[in-house]
Amino acid sequence: MSTDTEVATAAASGASATERFHTDKSPFAAVADTPPARVDRLARRVLQAVHDTIREEKVTYDEYNALKAWLIQVGEDGEWPLFLDVWVEHVVEEVATEHREGSKGTIEGPYYVPNAPERGAKGTVPMRDDEAGTPMVWRGQVTSTDGRPLGGAAVELWHADDDGFYSQFAPGIPEWNLRGTFTTDAEGRFEITTIRPAPYQIPTDGSCGRLIAAAGWHAWRPAHLHVKVSAPGHELLTAQLYFPGDEHNDDDIASAVKPELLLAPVDQPDGSVTVDYGFVLDPVRN
Ligand code: DHB
Ligand code: FE
Repeated sequence: MSTDTEVATAAASGASATERFHTDKSPFAAVADTPPARVDRLARRVLQAVHDTIREEKVTYDEYNALKAWLIQVGEDGEWPLFLDVWVEHVVEEVATEHREGSKGTIEGPYYVPNAPERGAKGTVPMRDDEAGTPMVWRGQVTSTDGRPLGGAAVELWHADDDGFYSQFAPGIPEWNLRGTFTTDAEGRFEITTIRPAPYQIPTDGSCGRLIAAAGWHAWRPAHLHVKVSAPGHELLTAQLYFPGDEHNDDDIASAVKPELLLAPVDQPDGSVTVDYGFVLDPVRN
């Protein structure tokens, strides 16, 4: 573990995830035309689920006050992006992509940053000279659902380092470390050199950690690579890829693992691994 471990606090990663969300998204503009009837229906259903839980579980005033204090704390810690992406996003993703015939996706999580450095069709993701971890070469092809190769498709990759930390969300890591954009060649192919990421523990020293400890859960996500794959006329694919044998593939805290997202890495004599994994994008529906 590097010395980053001591200073990578929940407050730091929570606050940067919240700040990043505000920078990248205009969430209210996207729903500005929502009719009141839709808001009314959704708000009522969520409140009804809360009311039902209180009645059925005979929730006490002490528990209600603890909940209030905890909800306030989540905001103060800047941990709403973490909370929502870990315990809610996977169902939103399921509903948003259920019509697709191409590759499976999964949650984005809180640590995507757009416009990572361009590395062409074949290249090495930005990393430190002494970056720890097993070197990995990943080859793949991007096609459309009809089998046509998609040249000029963008494969945006981001992942944690060998200590489980993401650049821009933990201190002491170069800005674009382990973040890169690759553009497929005329045959839709790409080749990425990076390192194998480590399993990731969601921050345990903030309010999400407090919930995890109080409920007797664990905070682990299996090791994963994040990608966004895009091409003109096709739906954006947001996915994560996992490594077979990781003990948390079956009990990911974020419920984001799917069998289709497991890689099949091949160990090489020099200690590196190679992996083949490609993507099939769905054309935009008319
Ligand atoms: C969280 C972190 C991740 O790396 C991820 O992929 C999903 C969620 C989180 O801390 O909330
Ligand atoms: Fe992640």
